Amino acid sequence: MSIAPLLSPELFDFPDETLWLAHCKDGPMPRAAAAMLEALLRTELRPWELRWNEDFLDVEQRLRDAGAALLGVSAQDISLVSCTSTGLQAIALGYPWQPGDEVVIPAGEFPSNRLPWLALERLGVHCVEVPLWPEAALPDTDIEPEQRLLQAITPRTRMVAASWVRFQDGIRLDLDRLGQGCRERGVHLIVDGIQGAGTAVPDLRHASAFATGGHKGLLGGQGQGLLWTNAALRRQLMPLGTWLSAPSAFSQAGTQGTAACHWASDGRYLEAGSPTILGCGALAASIERLLAVGGAAAIEAHVTNLQQRLLQRLRVAAAWKQEADRLQRLIQAGRTGSILSFACPQPVIDELLQRGQAQGINASTREGFLRIALHAWHGSVDVDRCAQWMMASP
Ligand SMILES: Cc1ncc(COP(=O)(O)O)c(C=O)c1O
Repeated sequence: MSIAPLLSPELFDFPDETLWLAHCKDGPMPRAAAAMLEALLRTELRPWELRWNEDFLDVEQRLRDAGAALLGVSAQDISLVSCTSTGLQAIALGYPWQPGDEVVIPAGEFPSNRLPWLALERLGVHCVEVPLWPEAALPDTDIEPEQRLLQAITPRTRMVAASWVRFQDGIRLDLDRLGQGCRERGVHLIVDGIQGAGTAVPDLRHASAFATGGHKGLLGGQGQGLLWTNAALRRQLMPLGTWLSAPSAFSQAGTQGTAACHWASDGRYLEAGSPTILGCGALAASIERLLAVGGAAAIEAHVTNLQQRLLQRLRVAAAWKQEADRLQRLIQAGRTGSILSFACPQPVIDELLQRGQAQGINASTREGFLRIALHAWHGSVDVDRCAQWMMASP
């Protein structure tokens, strides 16, 4: 049975032969987002035409609203940040640390969720890196990464900071279980969400923060992302906000809040100055496209269907059977996001990628894994083409 794309590929700028399986590296912007960029660019060329509410404040609000709807949170708790790193830095640099405090992170995190915590050594804060499963083993359904992180918590731990979906092996953490464990221990759970945002539904009931850049699964441009924080964590942090973060929207008349109240208590509290409104507009338009096809839940279900089909195709090839079986078990256990990461000798991956590129098929590799990232614009035709490419002998 064929599976139609959930989001029409016609909405993008894909040449006929291009099969983009690498949104985990960079998501393609829908044409609607590019049109938004062009419209806003005009206000940069012609500032005398700029309407402050429609072309600026409303654009910011559109992004907050769309981002909140996609993540299933309140728009009040969204801060507009430039990328995952700056979202996490707002927390790392803003928290009232005491010397001897600890942060727990998984071993092997992307630098965006590692360097902000390592930098705290200067304040006497120790970053503890915890392997999520035995080294050299491939992750399978017997792993318990949440348990390993929770076991590393000590009375000095203030935060656990972890990727929701890992960039190299594609393993997805159970945010509900981890968040609940953190909350029971009085510890904040901080999430690097970029590899899941736009393709899966995050469970943030027990989390304190979720940071994501906008240029992967959310299909925005580089340089515009979102940070969600709960009010309890926000209150503990140093405010970053400047004039746009006054308690009520700045009037352009130069009116500031009273001395007792310089910052809004909502997400603007953590916005370090004016955003690039072009980036905000484009990301809002992209996320609105995702919402129009049913949002993260519909996309997650679609991607899972396609992944199962791909693995079913690959299972008949001796070279892929073992990995297809392992990944199928991981899907069934809810351990994957939109990246299927196939462990494979690096020369084989390199040859495959090279051969794929010659045919217009683009996937990616990290740390010994071939990453196949599916999204809403893919359908069964794409998956079958991907399987054929992977199974063809060199
Ligand atoms: C897990 C993870 N976090 C963060 C990033 C990117 O961070 P930023 O949005 O700060 O550029 C990536 C990019 O590959 C990633 O895979």
